[in-house]
Amino acid sequence: MAANRTSIHGQWSSRWIFVLAATGSAVGLGNIWRFPYITAEHGGGAFVLIYLVCIILVGLPIMMSEIMLGRRGRRSPIHAMEVLAEEEGRSRHWRLVGVLGVFAGFFILTFYSIVAGWTLAYILRTVSGVFNGASAQETQDIFNALVSDPERLLAWHTIFMIMTVSVVSRGVKQGLEQAVRYLMPALFVLLLFLVGYSATTSGFSEAVSYLFKPDFSQIGPSTVLVALGQAFFSLSLGMGAIMTYGSYLSERASIPGTTAYIGVMDTGVALLAGLAIFPIMFSFGLQPEEGGPGLIFMILPIAFGQMSYGSILAFIFFTLLMFAAWTSALSILEPITAWLVEKTGYTRMKAAICSGFVAWLLGLGSLLSLNLWSEVKLFGMTFFSLMEHLSVNIMLPVGGLLISVFAAWCMSRSSSFAELKLSNNAYLAWKVAAMFIAPAGVILILLQEVFGFLG
Ligand code: PHE
Repeated sequence: MAANRTSIHGQWSSRWIFVLAATGSAVGLGNIWRFPYITAEHGGGAFVLIYLVCIILVGLPIMMSEIMLGRRGRRSPIHAMEVLAEEEGRSRHWRLVGVLGVFAGFFILTFYSIVAGWTLAYILRTVSGVFNGASAQETQDIFNALVSDPERLLAWHTIFMIMTVSVVSRGVKQGLEQAVRYLMPALFVLLLFLVGYSATTSGFSEAVSYLFKPDFSQIGPSTVLVALGQAFFSLSLGMGAIMTYGSYLSERASIPGTTAYIGVMDTGVALLAGLAIFPIMFSFGLQPEEGGPGLIFMILPIAFGQMSYGSILAFIFFTLLMFAAWTSALSILEPITAWLVEKTGYTRMKAAICSGFVAWLLGLGSLLSLNLWSEVKLFGMTFFSLMEHLSVNIMLPVGGLLISVFAAWCMSRSSSFAELKLSNNAYLAWKVAAMFIAPAGVILILLQEVFGFLG
């Protein structure tokens, strides 16, 4: 039975816009900044293979569950969980899944906006040509000069937050939809252009075998868990972003079909980002393993600085990264804003400004922890790493676990069957994945986080 509710925030104009928006959420710093360096840290091809398995077995079933809960509840995550729990005769406490998501969203934004700010700063630097002929020491100095200057970071963090709030404040149709309609195609074109360039470099074939020829000797037990965590973060699962976007999805759109598109596009962009970045590094004899989180900000500019038209390519690259971060940040702020509108009756503008302001304020903690407060540690971590660790490694997996438990164990067969509209066999496959495989995978990541039992 369909639930026949409507969202007060409106609906996507088409299923394609939903796919674009959800892909915009999924494709972000996680794909272009994080995926390449953790792939490099875990030995390339074998990691990529395990990552793909995690996407299919854990990520996609949870994504289907999230979209389903959103569309059926037709509200922001806290209220959607409340309505659905009541409808299914379950405890009202299921709303805590949504509450957790709101907190996770704030925590993610605190560091996301800072790193996105770096991409803005780098766009400007590429235009000024500072990377031309720069040595490894020089690119490192450029990065450190940015990170250790609170005033500059503050300016970029503020600009990025204003960009995000200004889109979210316009609402689903006028804001989110208009942004993804232009930014996502631009992002794909820029990315394809870069891959096209990389394909002409001498390092391309080395990069292809690096990414696609698995070398299992490089794999340890913890690799699986890192891959699972990355699958989670990259698909934007566990905090209600995709649930919120699902609440604006038309009744007629197929959830499994759209999930498949989003999964393919998110994974495709991560792989293409690898195919854009690694050939350039290999061509210039740079080792990706050495980059770590600074891979993109410190190592890649060395290569850009040595090639002809390097400034233009670097400009394209950081613009691409900024677009990707922007469309993801929209989806992190949207659930909180939608909830505030539902809860208080604020206008969207007021709600977006309030939630953006809180995220901005918390972001100051991350910002200062990179410089003035770098010695202040909580649980042995700076504020920046604490926020990143808590949200990505703990809150998202817990959120995802609860979402899939609710969808698979607490919802009646008739409700989930009506939403997913799968054949009997496909429904069974989803059910097994959402009931057992996904929760087991997530519990493993959490145990690893808490006890570090795999070292
Ligand atoms: N998926 C985004 C990325 O890859 C990050 C994100 C996480 C967005 C959670 C929304 C919710 O960068």
